[in-house]
Amino acid sequence: MEKINLRDYVATVKDYPEPGVEFRDISPLMGNGAAYKDAINQIVDFAKDLNVELIAGPESRGFIVGSPLAYALGVGFVPARKVGKLPREAVSASYTLEYGGVNELEIHKDAIKPGQRVLIVDDLLATGGTINATRRIIEELGGVVAGVAFIIELEALHGREKAMEAGEVPFLALMEY
Ligand code: PRP
Ligand code: HPA
Repeated sequence: MEKINLRDYVATVKDYPEPGVEFRDISPLMGNGAAYKDAINQIVDFAKDLNVELIAGPESRGFIVGSPLAYALGVGFVPARKVGKLPREAVSASYTLEYGGVNELEIHKDAIKPGQRVLIVDDLLATGGTINATRRIIEELGGVVAGVAFIIELEALHGREKAMEAGEVPFLALMEY
């Protein structure tokens, strides 16, 4: 079978959501069965040596990457939800958004047991605020971040440094822009 080039499935949208920004949209990748499967399989390969016990993904595009990955690895999935959505006791962390403003993510307190090894995944790493907040919650709950993985890393925004603020962990980005 012909090798898939995932870059063929990323749409670049100029001046979205504001002038001067080039938005990388992975909708075409998710909309193509072979490309979506290839991306998830590459993250499965990365996860294989990390003794992953849980996948965590931030709402909402982190769910699109994390759920099939958890299924493929046969481990559970923990959603980091935007504030106010979870019905039971939760731990939260706030972060600033790339285009201004503040947001907050939450994870149920009983979702992660102390010592559990968690791989955090998302579609895209921009400033790193989202992944940093997700990591802070997981570590507050006693979880061990086994690694972080993304489909896209926007290198110019230095999100990788923010992702590693609490210490270096294995890192994967399938594409860099
Ligand atoms: C986007 C993207 C990442 C985050 C990256 O999500 O899916 O989660 O931004 O940005 P950062 O590295 O600067 O934090 P968004 O908050 O737009 O939510 P969505 O997935 O619901 O669209
Ligand atoms: N593309 C998609 N999602 C994003 C981006 C982007 O360029 N920046 C922040 N979230």
